[in-house]
Order: sequence, then structure tokens, then C-alpha cells
Amino acid sequence: MNNFEFKNQTEILFGKGQASKISERIPTDANVLFLYGGGSIKKNGVFDDVTKALKGFSYVEFSGVEPNPTFETLLKALAVIEEQNIDFILAVGGGSVIDGAKFLAAAANFDGEPWDILEKGAQFSNPLPIGAVLTLPATGSESNGNSVVTKKATQQKLAFGHPSVQPVFAILDPVYTFTLPSKQISNGTVDAFVHVIEQYLTYPVNSPIQDGFAETILRTLIQEGPKALQNPKDYDTRANVMWAATMALNGLIGQGVPQDWATHMIGHEFTALYGLDHAQTLAIVLPALMRRQKQQKRAKIIQLGTEVFKLEANSEDALVEATIDATQAFFEQMQVKTHISDYGLEKSAVDEVLAKLKENARFKLGEHQDITLDVSKEILEMAY
Ligand code: NZQ
Ligand code: ZN
Repeated sequence: MNNFEFKNQTEILFGKGQASKISERIPTDANVLFLYGGGSIKKNGVFDDVTKALKGFSYVEFSGVEPNPTFETLLKALAVIEEQNIDFILAVGGGSVIDGAKFLAAAANFDGEPWDILEKGAQFSNPLPIGAVLTLPATGSESNGNSVVTKKATQQKLAFGHPSVQPVFAILDPVYTFTLPSKQISNGTVDAFVHVIEQYLTYPVNSPIQDGFAETILRTLIQEGPKALQNPKDYDTRANVMWAATMALNGLIGQGVPQDWATHMIGHEFTALYGLDHAQTLAIVLPALMRRQKQQKRAKIIQLGTEVFKLEANSEDALVEATIDATQAFFEQMQVKTHISDYGLEKSAVDEVLAKLKENARFKLGEHQDITLDVSKEILEMAY
């Protein structure tokens, strides 16, 4: 196991009715920005619960943070932060709203060009504190320090991360997820699944704790994801999916182990270019990446097949193939298509995505840094 330092600063408030605790967690003299998305929270009671909890606080609303939050919209929110002397952000929504809040938190007291935080990894100081009310289990953004923002003007989707922008608290009420469209249930399950895979499916470093946790999260998602699709109002199912998605990317299972993230890096270019949902891009890339990298990942693919999918085969080679097939079949079972061509894209997409990878200097991806542009090309061709 590799050395690590681990601290997760997010206080999780999990379960029914926990939004009422928001008022105890925000400083009474705070000037709050209540940040949300396109309005789903107005249809399912979340907006009402939050406004009730904010009664007596000084706050302003900013709505319209899009899925795959854009730099352009966030700049408008940044202007509100400056005009209104905001010193606390309450992000209410899915990963996009929470990621948007992190960018705003970092940019609020930053003197330079805000895009440099994403493009150049520019240092910032004194970020604003964030509280999160999660409505879509998927990204883990509610208890990690990562943020992904898209600049529409240049079709760039870039990430930054720092522990200081991690939410100080997160409300996880599974009831809030009852209104998710089935597409978002599918997306969330696939995204969380791939987050675990990015931290697990590399090579063995004798880390049974991390591996065991990772396998439990994967088994839970395989079991509960389809149930959430079939029975959207089942509280226990929703609770298990929600906790699985948080545990998948709150830092715990990634400590002391190699990590991959090539699927995410390649996938982000599909969203930047064609607007595909984040999880759709992962479902396209991962099966092909597993096939291309099956020698490097062999031991862990076998472990995935045995411990998670409970597969048996006549040979190790057959087990590797069966495990990759099972992964792809799970995405299809969750109604997320796994080929580039399924999304109405032409073969030219392969070269367009490659050009974007080159532009963003993605020359060495993966746990061995051996996914060069040539290897990415092979993966994309296999994924078509
Ligand atoms: O905008 P509203 O009207 O709220 O609707 C949203 C949105 O259209 C809707 N929704 C959310 N909760 C709902 C609901 N509809 C009905 N009922 C509810 N309870 O769902 C749509 C998608 O929301 P979004 O926040 O975009 O989805 P998700 O949570 O999947 O976030 C995706 C973004 O997170 C980034 C992705 O790249 C993408 O930009 N990621 C962030 C990560 C992180 N911070 O660690 C890691 C991930 O790998 C990922 O890259
Ligand atoms: Zn993801």
C-alpha cells in the first residue's frame, strides 16, 4: 500500500427530513447564496424545505446552473457574490450545481482571470464555505473537493480540485431523489460505478481494505441500480444508491492505491464536443478501455469478475473476457448505451475527440501513464 494522508471535512446529514438542520449549520450572520439548477427543486418540495430552513437568514437566490455547468453562467453568479457580499454558498442540486459552487467559492477571493483556476491550476486562497443539499446521487461532489466546469466558448471541459472547496456539510435525503427521471437514475448509477472502477481496476498493491470496500460498493450498485429504475419510490433502495455514490468518490477507497481516470478524461471530451451526458461518455469508453488494457489490468479484472460479478470460467482468459462483457452488459441493463455509434455520432468523432485530447495535452493517461494518443485512438475505434 502506498503512503497517504486522509481527512474528509464534510459532515454528512443522512436521511429523511435532515434539511431542517441546515439552519444549525450555517453561521447566523452569513450572507448566503442559494444556488440551484434549472428548477427541478421547485417541483419536488426541496425548494420549500430549503427556504423554510433559511428563514431568518440573509440570502439571495441564483438559479440556472446547467447540467455540465458553464463558466459563462457561473461568471454571472460570481457578479452576484461580489455585489451582495456573499460569504456562504448553499448548493442545492446534483453534481453540476455543487461543482459550480466550488468554482464560485474558489473564484470569489481570487484576483486573476477565474478561468486560470481550471486551465492553469492557478492557486486561490480564502475560498467561501459551501453547504450542499444533494438531489442526485452520482458524482460524490457533495463530499469531495473536485469540480468540473465547461467553457462553452472554447468547448473545454476542465477540472480542478482542492480540499478547501469541499462542502462543510451535505444533506443526503433519499426522498429528494424520488423525482429523478429514469435517465438520471441510470446516469448516476453508472457514474458511481465507474468512479469505483477508476480507483480499483488498476493493479494489486496488497490493499484488501480498499479493495473490499470498493467491491461492496460495486455489488451494491449492481443490485440496487436496477431496483431504483423499477421501483423509484422505494426508500431503502434510494438510500443504498445514495450512500454508495457518496462512498464511491469521497476519497476513502482511493487512499494508498493507484488510480486510473483515463475513462473520465476521454469521456469529458465527448461532453465538451457533443453534449453527451457524463455517464453516457463513461459507458462508451470503459468497456473498450478494459479490452485495450486487459493485460495491464489482468489481475484486477479477474478479481472484479470473481468478487463482484461472481463469474466462473474454464480459463483466466475466458474470465477476463466474461468480466468485461458483464461490465458492458450492466451499463446496457441500466439503459446506458455503450457505443459511440449509439449516440448518432459519425466515425469522424474518433478524430475529433483525439484532437481535443491533444489540445488538452492528454498524452499519458491511466495508472501506468501508458495511454498515449495512439492508444486513445485504438480505444475510441473499439468503442465506435
Ligand atoms: O437543473 P435541474 O432542474 O435541477 O435538473 C437536474 C439536471 O437537469 C436534474 N435533477 C437533479 N436532481 C433532480 C433532478 N430532476 C428531478 N429530480 C431530482 N431530484 O438532473 C439533471 C442532471 O443534473 P446534474 O447535476 O448535471 O447531474 P450529475 O449529478 O450527474 O452531475 C454531472 C456533472 O458532475 C461532473 C460531471 O462532469 C458533470 O458536469 N462530475 C463531477 C465530479 C466531482 N465533482 O467529483 C466527478 C464526476 O466524475 C463528474 O465529472
Ligand atoms: Zn464521473
